[in-house]
Amino acid sequence: MNGFSPVTFQDCKAFDLLATAVFMLDQDGMIRWVNNAGQHLLERSSRSLEGLAAWRLFEDEHAFEHAFEAILNGEFSSFGLMGGLLKNQGQEKLLVSATLQRLYQQAWCVILEVREIEQHTLAERNERLIKELEIHQETFRNLGHEVKNPLGGLRGAAQLLEMELSDPALQEYTQVIIAEADRLQELVDRLIRPGQDNLFLSVINIHEVCERVYALLKAEYRDDITIVRDYDASVPNMKADMAKLLQAYLNIGRNAAQSLLSVKNKDKLSITLRTRILNRHLLLNKMHRLVLVASVIDNGAGVPEALHDRIFHPLVTGRADGTGLGLSLAQEYVRQHGGLIEFDSVPGKTEFRILLPLEAA
Ligand SMILES: Nc1ncnc2c1ncn2[C@@H]1O[C@H](COP(=O)(O)OP(=O)(O)O)[C@@H](O)[C@H]1O
Ligand SMILES: [Mg+2]
Repeated sequence: MNGFSPVTFQDCKAFDLLATAVFMLDQDGMIRWVNNAGQHLLERSSRSLEGLAAWRLFEDEHAFEHAFEAILNGEFSSFGLMGGLLKNQGQEKLLVSATLQRLYQQAWCVILEVREIEQHTLAERNERLIKELEIHQETFRNLGHEVKNPLGGLRGAAQLLEMELSDPALQEYTQVIIAEADRLQELVDRLIRPGQDNLFLSVINIHEVCERVYALLKAEYRDDITIVRDYDASVPNMKADMAKLLQAYLNIGRNAAQSLLSVKNKDKLSITLRTRILNRHLLLNKMHRLVLVASVIDNGAGVPEALHDRIFHPLVTGRADGTGLGLSLAQEYVRQHGGLIEFDSVPGKTEFRILLPLEAA
């Protein structure tokens, strides 16, 4: 006996009680069963859905197929996607998050769950995020200025003291004071730093940024992490500050790598650098015709639940040796480009997305 018992038609009936759309797929990706919520979401009967290839429901068929294959081959036990779900023969599109999961020794191979993401909910969340970030940055900047002067005094006094000390062994202590004052000074400088929101614009392609991050991560984490590049080659050039975008994307990439290295099971650690284009997307309460999405996706343990609401705030860190400045700086740089960083995270799949409006370069 194997401890598993197949999902039966009877079990599936229980899925009808869920508010989430659930589809059971066979090994060819054909829909074999759909619950009530799924029929409701697509406004189609189970009869018209059963036997249909699931990828045909997705705007990005390719991404779906890629995910489906990864699941079928056992590369991942579960795979999340975000994108457009087509409705009414493609005339209507819903923004959804979907999860594929492999089923073993069951009547069906794969279970697909689909949840609608309401754009205005996302927009509201982002709006709130940005406002909070601005308030925090202001507070920290003020605090930074307050700390700067006494810190200088402290360091100076330690230096004077050191010159007066006759016992060189005691200098160890003044050295600690000076070194720690310098460390604090650096932190304060980094908090005060912004305000310089002038951008050095040039015409770039986002893939130059991606490739640099790829090379840097590759050099740093060569043997430990598989880094996958999944670029949409049709992304047009844009006017941007290359150095700032690079810093933002790198901060996100490094976080992903650091999170992966803390995972216990070191098999199959992977980071995907992905670019996509969104048509007609709401960004910071403005509708944009074209929005670039540059994501970093990792299969690590995920962002700790307690940090979800404040992860972009300065000094918020989940790591013993973290400064908590990486994401707040990245968010600020992207904001200066009229864009936004957002994220989704569950254990096994974390995606940080840089969204940038694409104006003609
Ligand atoms: N990809 C990720 N997976 C899990 N946790 C993450 C990820 N990215 C960021 N975090 C969490 O967010 C925190 C803040 O990140 P950041 O602002 O870069 O500061 P730091 O890296 O110095 O801690 C991290 O300490 C970590 O707890
Ligand atoms: Mg960081």
